[in-house]
Amino acid sequence: MALSNFRPQTIIEPFRVRSVEPIRFTTYTERLAYLAEAGYNPFMLRAEHVLIDLLTDSGTGAMSSRQWAGMIASDESYAGATSFYKFEAAVRDITGFKHVIPTHQGRAAEHILFGVIARPGDVVLNNTHFDTTRAHVENVGAEARDLVIPEGRQPQLIHPFKGNMDLEALTAAIKEIGPRRIPAIMMTVTNNSGGGQPVSMANIRAASQIAHAHGIPFFIDACRFAENSWFIKTREPGYADKTPLEIAREMFSYADGCTMSAKKDGMANIGGFLALNDDDLAGRCRHIEILTEGFPTYGGMAGYDLEAIAVGLYEALDENYLRYRIRSIAYLGEKLVTASVPIVQPTGGHAVYLDARAMLPHIPALQYPAWSLNNALYLLGGVRGVEIGSVMFGRRPDGTEQPAANELVRLAFPRRVYTQSHVDYLAEVILAVHAQRNRLTGYRIVYQAPVLRHFTARLEPLG
Ligand code: F0G
Repeated sequence: MALSNFRPQTIIEPFRVRSVEPIRFTTYTERLAYLAEAGYNPFMLRAEHVLIDLLTDSGTGAMSSRQWAGMIASDESYAGATSFYKFEAAVRDITGFKHVIPTHQGRAAEHILFGVIARPGDVVLNNTHFDTTRAHVENVGAEARDLVIPEGRQPQLIHPFKGNMDLEALTAAIKEIGPRRIPAIMMTVTNNSGGGQPVSMANIRAASQIAHAHGIPFFIDACRFAENSWFIKTREPGYADKTPLEIAREMFSYADGCTMSAKKDGMANIGGFLALNDDDLAGRCRHIEILTEGFPTYGGMAGYDLEAIAVGLYEALDENYLRYRIRSIAYLGEKLVTASVPIVQPTGGHAVYLDARAMLPHIPALQYPAWSLNNALYLLGGVRGVEIGSVMFGRRPDGTEQPAANELVRLAFPRRVYTQSHVDYLAEVILAVHAQRNRLTGYRIVYQAPVLRHFTARLEPLG
């Protein structure tokens, strides 16, 4: 007798675990002491004192047996290693770009690119610059301007592609600045600083057309290109039957080059690249690469890193993997929304962002509500996220304070590391904090460095 097939409702982790790493449990009393010792700054905690570490999805993923196999068989030759050619072939196959310049991580690609193309007085336009991208643009004396659509700035507003560039604002900015002072228009996929929100293919195509109509090069910050491809597949009409690889190729086809941190959708613990079509530009970038990264066939990476990325880029595009990844984040988001915990909606590709301004209206921005929320997650559950609020962004260059645009806690998911029970536990911790939200207090900064203060600041709870 033939059975009738069924469609399972449970989306399972598309892997089994063959090597495990213990996570360490601590008590509430221990965590109180650890956090005080760390100056109430989760960046200063020892990782072994954290149970579920959602500080970043960058370089924190688990590698596959195929990646490890490639690493064991790597070629560590200084020049012309076979590992480089595998890496180059994978990047070319997926992106279509002619020149592949390896770098030790994403910001090194940004350092090389903006050092070569941007001058003081120039303006780089992006949907939203990631911090390091902005820093490299500003480091050469240029301005980094963000032009995300207005919907992208409202945490609780639902829109399928909140990472999209505001095309009218883009055209107006080109008119105002003049194409000669715009060395590049860039699209960050997904838009990390805007909540891990995707950019639609239509928006990428249109932004590229606008750039090219003015003779301006168009680049993609490709860190989470595979996650963006999945959102296009599942949300944009006309893409449901295409594979993530086909979608990624189309995205890259509109661009003149990309920067990439392989610590995200390269599924590696370290590495990155700059990829380009222009021969002359590639030559100038390789010259800087030799000065700062190393010979152009390794660029600051070991042969085994190149192997891990050559395999990882394809694994990131696997449909079963992407379905599980995006689903685990949406799953946490749904549990929180059902319990009326305010989050950035819809959930993005790599993280859930808690909206501390909405959750903790009794804590003023300059007493750092998102910082307080993040510390409460650690104290109650041993969970570490990252504040994206007024500690990170609240200080002007002249030293005065101004509230950041949003007060968020980002809970970024390392790739293939945590399972559904970890996510269930996480939801429980967040709900427990939410239930006691009226008891959370603000913080004050007692020590801060002149730049990027959030990494090393020491704080004190108020009240
Ligand atoms: N661009 C984006 C969109 C990023 O998210 C990052 C890193 C970079 C560039 C820089 O890459 O770290 O390899 O030098 N984001 C990490 C994060 C650090 O936690 O979001 P990198």
